[in-house]
Amino acid sequence: MSTVVITGTQWGDEGKGKIVDYLAGQAETVVRYQGGSNAGHTVAVNGTEYKLRLLPSGILYQGTHNVVANGVAVDPEVMLQEMDAMAAKGIDVSGIRLSDRAQVVMPYHRLMDGIGDEARGKDKIGTTKRGIGPCYMDRDDRIGIRVCDLLEEEVFAAKLKNNLAVKNKELKALYDHEPLDFAKIFAEYMGYAKRLAPYICDTITLLNEEIQAGRKILFEGAQATMLDIDYGTYPYVTASHPVSGGVTVGAGVAPKNIHRVVGVVKAYCTRVGEGPFPTEQLNEMGDKLREAGHEYGTVTGRPRRTGWLDAMVVRYAGLLSGIDYMAVTRLDILDNFDEIKMCVGYRHKGKDLPGMPASLKVLGEVEPVYETFAGWKQPISGIRRYEDLPEAAKKYLERMAEVTGINLGIVSVGPNRDQTIVIAKDIFS
Ligand code: GDP
Ligand code: IMO
Ligand code: MG
Repeated sequence: MSTVVITGTQWGDEGKGKIVDYLAGQAETVVRYQGGSNAGHTVAVNGTEYKLRLLPSGILYQGTHNVVANGVAVDPEVMLQEMDAMAAKGIDVSGIRLSDRAQVVMPYHRLMDGIGDEARGKDKIGTTKRGIGPCYMDRDDRIGIRVCDLLEEEVFAAKLKNNLAVKNKELKALYDHEPLDFAKIFAEYMGYAKRLAPYICDTITLLNEEIQAGRKILFEGAQATMLDIDYGTYPYVTASHPVSGGVTVGAGVAPKNIHRVVGVVKAYCTRVGEGPFPTEQLNEMGDKLREAGHEYGTVTGRPRRTGWLDAMVVRYAGLLSGIDYMAVTRLDILDNFDEIKMCVGYRHKGKDLPGMPASLKVLGEVEPVYETFAGWKQPISGIRRYEDLPEAAKKYLERMAEVTGINLGIVSVGPNRDQTIVIAKDIFS
């Protein structure tokens, strides 16, 4: 098994960065396949926190290839800032590879994401304002600018000119915004192109050669199942496919070459931005979860909405992504709770729902069916073997595996690399 996908099962911020970093110790290549700088992945190594938005979380291992594949919406400014920040901390960035087919986030994307979402008023999505939705919109409209265009000055100039002609009209008509200046953007992006050029390549050939050679590759999902453009709580979703299938189109890897899928499950639930959230706790319990877990957004600093674990959501993620193992994170955050609840089903108008409803009205109306578990009321961050976990914690985890139908693979009991209990020894095998 040489390729492993790490995917978020809930609404993001499950701790994908931590799990990717942990497994990157065994991998040779780590790949981002979708999303962009809307992601905020935190990796803690020896007490130092690294926040990554575009660079794969494998960057902290010397000698690893870190690929930003074609499915990623790349903001070159953010990418270079991150590379500089890493280099300043003494981290080797020479193994970064950027796909020549990736779409480029332009200043008008960021601007339109910000003012466009605010203009929706009470219907706003609460996006991260990083330009991700508008960038993918341009891709689908076939007017997107790709990384390879940055290397061809005349092509880039022509595309930028054409796009600005339209974008400036839209900005004026819709938002009474002043026009953006061609020369300024052109010079800015040609500067980025010069700096990024050594890292740009055909990552499709690179990755497929690596797969043929049996190199160990990790695919790092950003966002999560419930934010997937098709499978999430549409329209309160992101504009890409975080599910494991996103790897095939986002990195140019055939389905048969995906060997394992690990779904990251936070031991409770959080959500940033708008949209339904059946197990949300708009009460003291929710506040306690937020404070215990310091649940504030990495990218925007917004307080995260909090609630109990929703096993219906995780089961749905398991079906969609073919999850082999769960990596349960942040179990330690529940150390001081007397009681812990888990949603094991949805009832609607007196009936059990078999799956995830498409209608947001229905999802907003479902009554979660809860089971209540006794808390373990002791610190678990120092535990390294599954059998040493308190009985109450094991009961909670084992019920999670039962309801979701997914095996436990990893249990994370703290942000650091060593605070990890590995149950499945064959994630890479
Ligand atoms: P991601 O977007 O899925 O990578 O998750 P984030 O990095 O946005 O949020 C997860 C946060 O939880 C980060 O601050 C991690 O350092 C932290 N974290 C990950 N696993 C654990 C864990 O098991 N326990 C604790 N206490 N923190 C964790
Ligand atoms: P990671 O990878 C949590 C949410 C936003 C908003 C919606 C759409 O760190 O788990 P977008 O800017 O993508 O168009 O916003 O998606 N969102 C995230 N929530 N974690 C993330 O990434 C997110 N990326 C986007 O808050 O509700
Ligand atoms: Mg995050």
